[in-house]
Amino acid sequence: MSLTVNTEQLSRELETLASFSDAPAPAVTRVVFSDADRRARAYVKELCTQAGLSVREDAIGNTFARWNGVDATLPAVGTGSHIDAIPNAGRYDGTVGVIGGLEAIRALQRSGLRPRRSIELLVFTSEEPTRFGLGCLGSRMLSATLSPAKAAALKDKEGKSLDEWRRAAGISGPLDRVALPRGHYAAFIELHIEQGPLLERNGIALGVVTAIAAPASLRIWVEGEAGHAGAMLMPYRHDALCAAAEIVLAVESGAKATGSSDTVATTGICDVFPGAINSVPARVRLEIDVRDTEEARRNSVLSHLDIACSEIASRRGVRVNTETINADPPARCDPGIVGALERGAAKHRLRSELMVSRAYHDSSFMSRIAPVAMLFIPCKGGHSHRPDEYSSPEEISHGALVLAEALAELAG
Ligand code: HGY
Ligand code: MN
Ligand code: MN
Repeated sequence: MSLTVNTEQLSRELETLASFSDAPAPAVTRVVFSDADRRARAYVKELCTQAGLSVREDAIGNTFARWNGVDATLPAVGTGSHIDAIPNAGRYDGTVGVIGGLEAIRALQRSGLRPRRSIELLVFTSEEPTRFGLGCLGSRMLSATLSPAKAAALKDKEGKSLDEWRRAAGISGPLDRVALPRGHYAAFIELHIEQGPLLERNGIALGVVTAIAAPASLRIWVEGEAGHAGAMLMPYRHDALCAAAEIVLAVESGAKATGSSDTVATTGICDVFPGAINSVPARVRLEIDVRDTEEARRNSVLSHLDIACSEIASRRGVRVNTETINADPPARCDPGIVGALERGAAKHRLRSELMVSRAYHDSSFMSRIAPVAMLFIPCKGGHSHRPDEYSSPEEISHGALVLAEALAELAG
């Protein structure tokens, strides 16, 4: 079987997909269920239809494009990723796995292969936490990690519900029909940019992921006392932002204290109320992201933070409430699929190396219902979630080519 990837078409389609954005190029902003997201979804569906795939969409908007195999009764082999993008992001996070996955299928079609198992491209809804504060919404529901009731209760910052958003996007249906049983897929592979510097730094063409770090995210409210910035003297203050600032530093010190470079923690959101220059902050909302390849070490940071919040609250006379948004275990990848990806790379004389994923991905949750693995391509400077995120057409084509080889092997 000789496989060729149409690099020119792949690049052109990624370029077009990047144009569906709420930010001026080269940045991409494409928050789930926004107009830009809806146009991007329609575009990807059109490409899948043109490739002769049968397309369906579930009640949360996960999209499935299937190339029927000889024996349609067998569990399919899945591949795919996401097309939503956080504000002021790049154009390759997620989209490489969707357009690259589609091109892998088209390359197999062109080769004349007739796979025994169907091969299905998935486009997951809302991998990014931007709108509803929870990442991997679509894959959490597919894997029954998130219940329909909990999903239905999700609201955005303005209080608009998931239901209102999905209906406005023309997506409907009962949420309790989204979950798929274990065994629905024989295997799932996600092609993705590394979102880190290792592959580029070491001159390696492809990363084969063996584990995906354990993500946790928290929402912390700090309630202090409002006051006039001129009249409220310092000894009488319960300044919510000063307390929050100490919490932010505790997030950083907690991660550094484990002594492992695999522990990371970030305070990405800090909303101050009332947010006036001449008013002592009354209330602050922090959103915090803590990750580690080891769950116990990640949890030690959460405990450290808990203790710090109690001490800061009593010393400063403020109230601190913590809500855990999610605290997920790490995902382990399947050695058989890892082997198929390594064999695919070797067949095309492309150097690959085993690695962990520090970003979370939809594969983290697909691993609950199917054997999974991920294939990484280098990204320039390791930059991601910013407009200068970049992988070259050649790097993306290498990813699609080796993905195609692994899909062919797994689909028989
Ligand atoms: O945050 C992440 O790891 C992913 O890019 N959403
Ligand atoms: Mn991302
Ligand atoms: Mn991603």
